[in-house]
Amino acid sequence: MPARLLKDGVYAVGAVDWNERNFHGHTYVTRRGVTYNSYLIVDDKITLIDTVRKGFEKTLIENINSIVRVSKIDVIIINHIEPDHSGAFPEVLKLCPGAKIYGTERAKQGLLKYYGLSGDWTSVSSGQSLNIGKRTLNFIDTPMVHWPDNMFTYSPYDKILFSNDAFGQHYATDKIFDDEVDFASLMDEAQKYYANILWPFNAIISGKLSAISKLNLSIDFISPSHGLVWRKYVSEIMRKYFYWSSHSCKSRIAVVYETMWNSTAKMAEKIVEGMISEDVEVALFDVTKNDRTDIAAYMLDAEGWVFGSSTHDGEMLPVIAGFLHFIKGSKAKKRMSFVFGSYGWSGEAVKCIENIVSSVSALSPSLKVVFNPTSVELDKCFEMGRAFAVKIKNENTT
Ligand code: FEO
Repeated sequence: MPARLLKDGVYAVGAVDWNERNFHGHTYVTRRGVTYNSYLIVDDKITLIDTVRKGFEKTLIENINSIVRVSKIDVIIINHIEPDHSGAFPEVLKLCPGAKIYGTERAKQGLLKYYGLSGDWTSVSSGQSLNIGKRTLNFIDTPMVHWPDNMFTYSPYDKILFSNDAFGQHYATDKIFDDEVDFASLMDEAQKYYANILWPFNAIISGKLSAISKLNLSIDFISPSHGLVWRKYVSEIMRKYFYWSSHSCKSRIAVVYETMWNSTAKMAEKIVEGMISEDVEVALFDVTKNDRTDIAAYMLDAEGWVFGSSTHDGEMLPVIAGFLHFIKGSKAKKRMSFVFGSYGWSGEAVKCIENIVSSVSALSPSLKVVFNPTSVELDKCFEMGRAFAVKIKNENTT
């Protein structure tokens, strides 16, 4: 993808990774691919904000060269060191060895560990700024959004917030702005991104958003390091971040299960039927047939989380075990759950699930059945689903 003009003097010079499907070492299924956004500001000092993943340095360098020779770069701002943004830093630095580098102290230490170099480095933090000509760039440190080294860079002249990982989406496209793609798809990707990248840091994000909103920044664009630039929907995505980071949720239930001989599946289906009878929004996920990334996105603002597993060797089944460890990491609040499952002789899976889920959700009594559920037991499943749906609905009307 060639360089594109964002605003007078500000260019998007990053790369599109159309075929990346397993981002973050298989923690995130990126069905729409990924972009690694990098921005070039042409002012008295030529300034590059972030680089791209290793393997895409050629694209980045060609894009910069199409505007100004890379050797002319005076300043490189490192908003975040994760390798999807810093991988090309050593190659770029070789071509502009005199560039001054700015980032947080933690970013410097991280670059030294990753690459053994940090260049002519200045550590910065919130309240500090850098004049590059017509523009003065302001730094806002944002630790744990989503690594300890993160920061935002804000350009009041352009009214652009360069937010790095925050407000990103994994969405490979030939377009650059939010209003150039389907809005519903974009918001789906933004929600999936939040659930899979930022969810565990809700408390920090919420605090940072409040602090930033008190700064009353005038923002025309939010330019993240992944996906589309927000220009039409800046206030929408801000509102969503306030909503997600405050653990807000709605009358929505996710039923997630793994089954061995289909008995737990039969229970799951009946539970869902009971929920549907109360007209509550519900989705059923066989965890072995859905990717974890999508289930987490659905669960992000679902108040009801229901989990089921057959018992196998005194434990829950292995795929749901991995999934629940991932969900436990969300540090979610304000959720309600119950657990179910079939078993042959001992039935430990339910207790094993409850032990994990209790740290992120309030538990209602569970339901276990031996071998195949009878029609009476299936009626009980239906009733448990129905009653749980009523509880969820009442919670959201009080
Ligand atoms: Fe897109 Fe935390 O890296």
